[in-house]
Amino acid sequence: MVFTEKYEEYLNYFNEKLETYCNKLDCQPKILNDSIKYSLTLGGKRIRPVLTFAVGDLLGVPKEKLVNFALAIELIHTYSLIHDDLPEMDDADFRRGKPSNHKVFGTGNAVLAGDALLNTAYSILFSECFNGNEYISASKFICDAAGIYGMIGGQSADLLHESDNTVDEDVLYFIYSNKTAKLIIAPIIVPSILNGGKNYSKLKFFGEKLGLLFQFTDDVLDVEGKFEELGKTTGKDENKYTGVKLYGLEGCKVKSELLCDECLKILESIEGDTQFLTEFVNFIVKRTN
Ligand code: IPE
Ligand code: IPE
Ligand code: MG
Ligand code: MG
Ligand code: MG
Repeated sequence: MVFTEKYEEYLNYFNEKLETYCNKLDCQPKILNDSIKYSLTLGGKRIRPVLTFAVGDLLGVPKEKLVNFALAIELIHTYSLIHDDLPEMDDADFRRGKPSNHKVFGTGNAVLAGDALLNTAYSILFSECFNGNEYISASKFICDAAGIYGMIGGQSADLLHESDNTVDEDVLYFIYSNKTAKLIIAPIIVPSILNGGKNYSKLKFFGEKLGLLFQFTDDVLDVEGKFEELGKTTGKDENKYTGVKLYGLEGCKVKSELLCDECLKILESIEGDTQFLTEFVNFIVKRTN
């Protein structure tokens, strides 16, 4: 099956699950329900769920076992975007092609929608824990990736260094690794954890490189991308601590190529059918949204 068809298949499977989940949401007051649903159903590439299912296929873990983990990770990712867009963070007016959550529901409600998504994700993970020890380990991995030694730590450093005049490579990698790569490693590693740790180290290394690559391309797109494709305002990173500031635009593209090669090399060392993941890496390098 060609890459785009397979991606679509994973995407449709996930979106159906998400739709069912959203249709069942019934919290009060209505504004809380509406604001949660708004951000969840705006779309997005859903790369994290797609990665989980793709690695599941590689390792022989069925989608049905993985889908609640994919859902929890996408809920956490969506909350991170709602908070990232807040006026006191990146102050971004658009997300996924529509006004950002706080632009529609106000800052207070956007904070709460984000909190609600994180909380609900944990509730989904706790329910999974009843299935056995490996489900507990996978859930803990996701919590750690989202927390103070993961995405939150990266976002905090991103904010702290926002107005620095110079960019230190180690600090940049700390930010990229934590704010972005950790929540890309998590969906890749969950199928491995559910399958007794098969290819754990290689997949973790792959996720780290892919996550860095993803953030480099994100920073390049902030300069070169088009709003119509990206769904978010470009030119927002002018004062931010980015790869573009450290290496320049062309330097970032070189870094991306190097990281792409590293990702492909790791995949070559993994037994089994890695074709979809190989094409996934190339899709990230060339992405326009
Ligand atoms: C955006 O993530 C935030 C970063 C980690 C750079 P995505 O580009 O995956 O966002 P959506 O889910 O497709 O909107
Ligand atoms: C955000 O990085 C990563 C998150 C944890 C949300 P960015 O701030 O670069 O993401 P965008 O460009 O707003 O999507
Ligand atoms: Mg940000
Ligand atoms: Mg941002
Ligand atoms: Mg960005």
